[in-house]
Amino acid sequence: MKRRSSTWFGGQDRDGFIHRSWMKNQGRPDHLFDGRPVIGICNTWSELTPCNTHFRAIADHVKRGVYEAGGFPLEFPVMSLGETLMRPTAMLFRNLVSMDVEESIRANPIDGVILLAGCDKTTPALLMGAASCDIPSLMISGGPMLSGKFHGQDIGSGTDVWRFSEDVRRGVMSECDFLEAEGCMNRSAGHCMTMGTASTMASVVEALGMGLPTNAAIPAVDARRYALAHMAGQRIVEMVHEDLRMSKVLTRAAFENAIRVVGAIAGSTNAVIHLLAIAGRIGVDLTVDDWDKLGRGVPCLVNLMPSGKYLMEDFYYAGGLPAVIEDLGDLINRDALTVNGKTIGENVAGARCHNREVVKPKDNPLTKEGGLAVLRGNLCPNGAVLKPSAATPDLMKHRGRAV
Ligand code: FES
Repeated sequence: MKRRSSTWFGGQDRDGFIHRSWMKNQGRPDHLFDGRPVIGICNTWSELTPCNTHFRAIADHVKRGVYEAGGFPLEFPVMSLGETLMRPTAMLFRNLVSMDVEESIRANPIDGVILLAGCDKTTPALLMGAASCDIPSLMISGGPMLSGKFHGQDIGSGTDVWRFSEDVRRGVMSECDFLEAEGCMNRSAGHCMTMGTASTMASVVEALGMGLPTNAAIPAVDARRYALAHMAGQRIVEMVHEDLRMSKVLTRAAFENAIRVVGAIAGSTNAVIHLLAIAGRIGVDLTVDDWDKLGRGVPCLVNLMPSGKYLMEDFYYAGGLPAVIEDLGDLINRDALTVNGKTIGENVAGARCHNREVVKPKDNPLTKEGGLAVLRGNLCPNGAVLKPSAATPDLMKHRGRAV
């Protein structure tokens, strides 16, 4: 099989000279250009994206694995999207980043790609761009931050900011405590550690089969996150040898699994727009109505903020996503292929839950209906999405003036 990279590095002519010679200015020896798989490491590292600031270290561990498996790793940057600083909103740039990813891969000698994503929009943007190229691809999520700790209590990024700021306005929290909480909430590398969009999309990566097992929940600063990166580096080289392209993993069955997993984890409603966009890029027919259809009857098992009580660190120690997928039983298409070459059913076989407060049993779920509800009416003719697990009962039936 002729690799893409060989059309750059394989020639004995003037162009081959140019393509190799300039790369040798980085101290790269001749044997790296002998036709081995060239692995791009697509990095959204940026100091302006606090959730992704540890990605240079993750990339270094990926490189170890790539070299070990006989590949040639080349790290490259793409535009990064941080939720907290970007104006008017990071969502405005998701598609721009997907184009950056797609054109960076297409324009360069890359046979397979590792995608490093963390903060909310970076995950869909990278999956969309890579899907359009359809080369062997594997995503590593940056992992959640450690749990926030404030005055002896766990606090969740995002979720508790709103509560604190309201408490200050109500006069039940001092400004001094409010400012102290700033340093207690986000206290390590990683993305938001509630089940917000970043954690939801990291879980989607694992449910789609685009990440290695346990990708979703290992804390960003846990050494096992770096070991996972090392193994991903090894695996992407094998994927190039096997020609295991993204389209073989991202099938309709994989998307159905992801939709049901989003229900079981009480995932973010943003997953709807992102999954529809990824499906569109890879050519899988998926509509907003599939969310309603497939999500029905999926119990919400994961007791994490904002729907529940705990945080991603607790989720990992309780067994993480493999335990949830195993619990979902035949709600999951167990034959769906994943990036490690095994089916998702094989990956989770025997996975156990270690804390039934964090991952509830199916016969006593957090809520019976975990899926997202798709609503239609004259206010939203194209559909709107509601997360019943996070809605108070009075939201489920409301009469009022439309503004
Ligand atoms: Fe980056 Fe929440 S701000 S994941």
